[in-house]
Amino acid sequence: MKRHAIIAANWKMNGSLSLIKEMVSGLNSIVLAENVNVVVCPSFPFLSAFALNAENENLQANIYLGAQNVSEHKSGAYTGEISTDMLNEVNANYVIVGHSERRSLYKETSTQVAHKVKTVLSAGLTPILCIGESEAERTAEQTETVLASQLQPVIDEIGIENFTDVVIAYEPVWAIGTGKTASPEMAQATHLFIRQFLANADKNIADKVPLLYGGSVNAANCEELFAQTDIDGGLIGGASLKVDEFKIICSSAKGS
Ligand code: 13P
Repeated sequence: MKRHAIIAANWKMNGSLSLIKEMVSGLNSIVLAENVNVVVCPSFPFLSAFALNAENENLQANIYLGAQNVSEHKSGAYTGEISTDMLNEVNANYVIVGHSERRSLYKETSTQVAHKVKTVLSAGLTPILCIGESEAERTAEQTETVLASQLQPVIDEIGIENFTDVVIAYEPVWAIGTGKTASPEMAQATHLFIRQFLANADKNIADKVPLLYGGSVNAANCEELFAQTDIDGGLIGGASLKVDEFKIICSSAKGS
């Protein structure tokens, strides 16, 4: 089954206008394997600057812009929120939805996440749906139950047929920003569970969904992770703030 590989940078609440410039010119010289897309997700105030710099530097077509969050509402009296229409206006193509930091710090529920995925899809944007278990949940052997409980509301909300336009990022919470990466074997086993869970609803669709791994991915461990059958790229936090390291990670991805 042919799947695109995707390397997405989640800058979180980091970065600056000068890093945007540095990243765009860094990515300008990058050589990517066939079928690899790169997505940079800076904070909202920097989206336009990325789009503008990318246009000025004539950045290759498979480098995209993404947001880190979006409102589930179309428009209206939601002070402080950002809509999918606004993201479309600044030429974003992807949106990270349901990151574990949003779920734990801002109490986003799986139902709300499912609504966001629907809103994102209906605006013609691609959601990067984040799922993952905590350390306590993995120790209690609840990983599969937790992942299923995060996936099922989205399947119920949008229908499995619409997963052709969804990217899933598996990010074990205990591996985020800790330097502790899931071993390639553990990540592969969990990705296989996710693919099989989707396959229970529709095998053909499940084979097409890019499954990204996130959690302390860096230049040293990316190759082994991306070599796994069901790992189609990564969602990169800290290492995506270092242009040279991020370029190495992007160059090591291979589409299937
Ligand atoms: P780190 O790569 O810093 O562990 O962050 C992972 C992440 O949360 C990406 O969304």
